[in-house]
Parts: sequence; structure tokens; C-alpha cells
Amino acid sequence: MDLEVNPCKSIRGEIEVPSDKSISHRAVMLAALCDGECIIENFLESDDCLRTAECFRSMGINIEKISVPDHGPSAYKVKGKGLKGLLPPKDILYVGNSGTSIRLLLGILAGQDFSATITGDDSIKKRPMMRVVEPLRKMGAVIRGSKDGGYAPIEIKGGHLSAIEYSLPVASAQIKSCLMFAALFASGETKITEPGHSRDHTEKMFEHFGIPFSKEGNTIKVSSVKSISRFDVNVPGDISSAAFFIVAALIVPGSSLTIKNVGLNPTRTGMIDVLHRMGAALEIKNENILSGEIRADISVRSGKLKGVSIGGDIIPRLIDEIPAIAVAAAFAEGDTVISDAKELRVKESDRIKTVREELGKLGVSIEEKDDGLVIKGGRPLNGAVCESHGDHRIAMSLAVAALAATGKVTIKDSECIETSFPGFTDLLKKVVVS
Ligand code: S3P
Repeated sequence: MDLEVNPCKSIRGEIEVPSDKSISHRAVMLAALCDGECIIENFLESDDCLRTAECFRSMGINIEKISVPDHGPSAYKVKGKGLKGLLPPKDILYVGNSGTSIRLLLGILAGQDFSATITGDDSIKKRPMMRVVEPLRKMGAVIRGSKDGGYAPIEIKGGHLSAIEYSLPVASAQIKSCLMFAALFASGETKITEPGHSRDHTEKMFEHFGIPFSKEGNTIKVSSVKSISRFDVNVPGDISSAAFFIVAALIVPGSSLTIKNVGLNPTRTGMIDVLHRMGAALEIKNENILSGEIRADISVRSGKLKGVSIGGDIIPRLIDEIPAIAVAAAFAEGDTVISDAKELRVKESDRIKTVREELGKLGVSIEEKDDGLVIKGGRPLNGAVCESHGDHRIAMSLAVAALAATGKVTIKDSECIETSFPGFTDLLKKVVVS
């Protein structure tokens, strides 16, 4: 499906963005493993998260949407069956485009006494799985898959896990979380060390469900538990989705936008820090904490931006926002240099290459480096026909760039937006003044 976006006069209004994808996945996973019934309020009904829910349904977990006004429009009831309550799935588990689903589920499947096969779409089959397969094998899981288990489809036979001490090769919440889940089923204490701080939603969710663990510096220690008590979860708005609307309001002159109830977990707010350094007028109001996660309203006004350098420890805190940041950089005065971001090459697309190619079509002066991008900002952007490369964040970044370009931008294969942001186009229409 083609998405056509025209330049607009301004962006105005007050909106909410869909719920956090990372937190929605984790909420279903822990709810399925606990004893009792959990209600997940504001569950993200995107393709990725619905795939996670479907995988658990295939393993005997009852998950249903409930319509009780008090719980909001997308509340789900999950009937947990305990740590050992999952049933062997009759069919292959299918995660669609979702890297979080496959990697975290492998950690949970490693603890089960049955065999299961898990796979996803063409993009998932190209994404590296050895980063979770290798440590899970060390814990005792028997894993087979394409290229020695490095790629999906992956068949896993779990049970009888032993704790390991493991240093992650890259700062990755998916690897860390996979191992934290597996550790719940392993004898002994599993010690996981990261080279840097990745998002900590699994830690926050473990705390919320009362699961003991310790964290000192970059090392987490988790031991097995006998059971997990039930808790309800309320999911905040996704800052990675808010990012597109923040950039839209920054780059279209005369804009003013408020985004309500956005998750502001400090391991996710690198983009806010960078935008402040670029000179953005962002205001954060009404902070509060629910289900262990900070959330607040973000108000944005358009204004002049300047290029900055982005690299080092901040990268894991904004890794998913780099395509949107690249759009902001294209409208900034001077150069923006993004480094230490090689992980972008193994996301839903090779985002260093796809950002360079597609923003290049809009006339952005952009150079690809092995581990990042150099964007020379300040030139007007033209209209063009662009490709999404099946990557939701590339599609939405191009849509946002189009709002401040000089001509129409057509984005091919835009249906991938559904993986994280159902209703993106309608929400854009709501705030655009043309
Ligand atoms: C995620 C972790 C990150 C992020 C992804 C979601 C998660 O991936 O890019 O979109 O929910 O744990 P990595 O763990 O590969 O860095």
C-alpha cells in the first residue's frame, strides 16, 4: 500500500500515541507465567504485540480483550497458568516481524519441558539469533535452526537449565531479557553483564510482579522462582512512536503539539536529551509513575535546530529513534554525526543503509559510515517516491519528512507501520493543518 504525504502548513493539537511496544510484550509474557488473572490496560494492539499474544494462546493461555469502561479502550485479560503451565504448541509459533517476540520467547521456551519451533517473516529470518541461542545453549537448551541456529526458523527443546555467567557482546535489552526469563527456570544464580545500559523494562516488570533480582552497575543476578503472583499492568504511550510527532512539530514552522501520557523511562529518553542539545523547545509536564514506569505529557513547538554529535553510551537510549532524529538533523543548521550505532544494521532493515538511501531520495545530503551517519542539514527537501523496506520506522520517518518538504512524498509498502503504530495516518491527519 502506498502512503502519500503532502507538505503542510503546521502541526497543531493534543494527542495520545499508541502504547509502548516493549512494555506490552513483557506484560503479556509475565501475565502468562504468573498464577492468576491479570488485566493489561492500554495493551498495544499492533501486529508485533498481537503476535506475542497469539503465541501464548497457541500454548494454552487464555487472552481476551475486555470492554469495561474503567479499563480503557484496549484492555486485555490474561489468565496466567504459572511458570510450568504452558502447553506444547501444536503448530509453529509465528512472530511476524517482531524481534522482541522471538528473542524473549526463546528465553521462556528454554525453560519448558517441550519442543517448539518459532519463526517469523522474511525480515525476522535475516536477523541474528545466535546472540540469544549461544547463551541459551550454555544454559542447557537444545536448539537447532538455520545456519547452526543463527537464524529462524528455530527449534528449541528446553527444561533442565543451569545458571550461567554471561557477558553480552552488545548492549541489548532483548538478549538481557531473554536471559532474565530463562534464569527464572534455571538452577543456581544467573549473572548477566552488559557492556552498556539498555532499556530496563524487564527489570521494572520483574519488580512490579515481585520477582526478586539484583542489579549492580551493568550486572544483573536472577535466580529461579517457584511462582509469580498476579498483578495488573497499565502501559504508557510509546516514546518511540511519539518521536515521529515530536519531530514533525519541530520541523514544520508554526507548529505546537502536546502528546499526553508518554512513557519516559530514562533508558528510553536519549532522543529528548539530543533534541534539547539541538535547541528544541520541548516541555515535560504532569510526570507520574504507574506500574513502575514514569510517564508525562510532552509539549513541542517548532523552532531552529542545530546539528550535534551523537555517540557512545547514549546510543542504546535512542537506538529506535535514529531514523526520526535523522529527519530532524536534515532540517538542522550544520552537521549531525551519528556514531557507535552499528546495531542499526541488524534492525527491521539495515537502518544505516535505508535511512541514507531514502532520505537521499528527498535530497538530504547524507553519508553512510560503518557505524552511523553524517547528515548535512539545512537544505530544502524535495518530494519523491520512496521505499519503506518493510520497516515501520523508515516509513514513518519519511512521512514526517514529507510534511516539511517542498513536494509530495509517496512511501511504498507502508502497511509495515501496523507493526508498531496502528492508526498512524489517521493521527497525522488529525494534527496536520494544510
Ligand atoms: C527492544 C530492544 C531493542 C529495540 C527493540 C525493542 C526490546 O533491541 O531496538 O525495538 O523491547 O527489548 P535490542 O535489544 O536488539 O537492542
